[in-house]
Amino acid sequence: MSKRVRTAVFPVAGLGTRFLPATKAMPKEMLTVVDRPLIQYAVDEAREAGIEHFVFVTGRNKAVIEDHFDRQFELEETLEMRGKTGALKELQRDLPSAGHTSFTRQQEPLGLGHAVWCARELVGDKPFALLLPDMIFRANPGVMKQMVEAYEERGGNIVGVEECDPADTASYGIVSRDEGPDSGFPITGMVEKPKPEDAPSNLFISGRYILQPEIFSLLSEQEKGAGGEIQLTDAMQTLMRRQSFTGVKYDGKVFDCGSKLGFLTANVAFALDREDLADGFREELRELGLTGEK
Ligand code: UTP
Repeated sequence: MSKRVRTAVFPVAGLGTRFLPATKAMPKEMLTVVDRPLIQYAVDEAREAGIEHFVFVTGRNKAVIEDHFDRQFELEETLEMRGKTGALKELQRDLPSAGHTSFTRQQEPLGLGHAVWCARELVGDKPFALLLPDMIFRANPGVMKQMVEAYEERGGNIVGVEECDPADTASYGIVSRDEGPDSGFPITGMVEKPKPEDAPSNLFISGRYILQPEIFSLLSEQEKGAGGEIQLTDAMQTLMRRQSFTGVKYDGKVFDCGSKLGFLTANVAFALDREDLADGFREELRELGLTGEK
């Protein structure tokens, strides 16, 4: 039987250059969609999937992420005194249990593959979930939960994928696939940013993975790839020669909040999903000449 996935890695050491100047002193992962930081959505999704150990690969200017997942006694006391019990309960619910978070530093942002490699001592010899926090999902159940279900059935490595417009493949990592249901099918190859005419499918990798620990030794041998960065895809391609990779075309939709358009769209979509905001927000949109209707 496959080992359970208990640990999740969150790489949060990137520079976030597409969001400058907002990210000059503040981590991109603390940008908010409605009223929750991006990193909180990813942690919530991991927790829903049964993850118990949360490993953050941080960098300079990222200390606030560590504070976000700590208790703020003064604030809690003030909320209590003012009778704001709803807000207090919510803050407490968002926190991982004591001793269940670990932080390590990627001293230089040398790419996603390098950030994942920096987590090797904290993950150890176990399969782990990897969640890129700038990708958030509208999905129920959550995407990682759907992927853990596939992992429990098939073991190996699991990659979450979604369909893109076939004209847009050059913006993504694209997989080629064999026959099988959306809930789990063999992945036969991966290619970074292919032109539409060269793309093996329109299924793109959307920032959710379950990986076996053998990926770490491959990452340590990895040469710098595209953009002078150590690429995760290159190491996964090598691992694919030795281990199975299963694709999960999950039920849900991704918002790429590392890009301004994705971030703005996510704010609109998530606000319209909120009972406490939807009516008022729709009204504001209507006044702006936008319908806001689904
Ligand atoms: P991105 O590819 O979006 O890079 O990283 P970035 O540096 O954050 O943003 P831009 O492109 O300059 O605007 C995807 C995820 O991987 C992390 C990021 O923090 C983000 O959560 N990452 C990326 C690292 O942890 N280290 C790196 O060296 C690169």
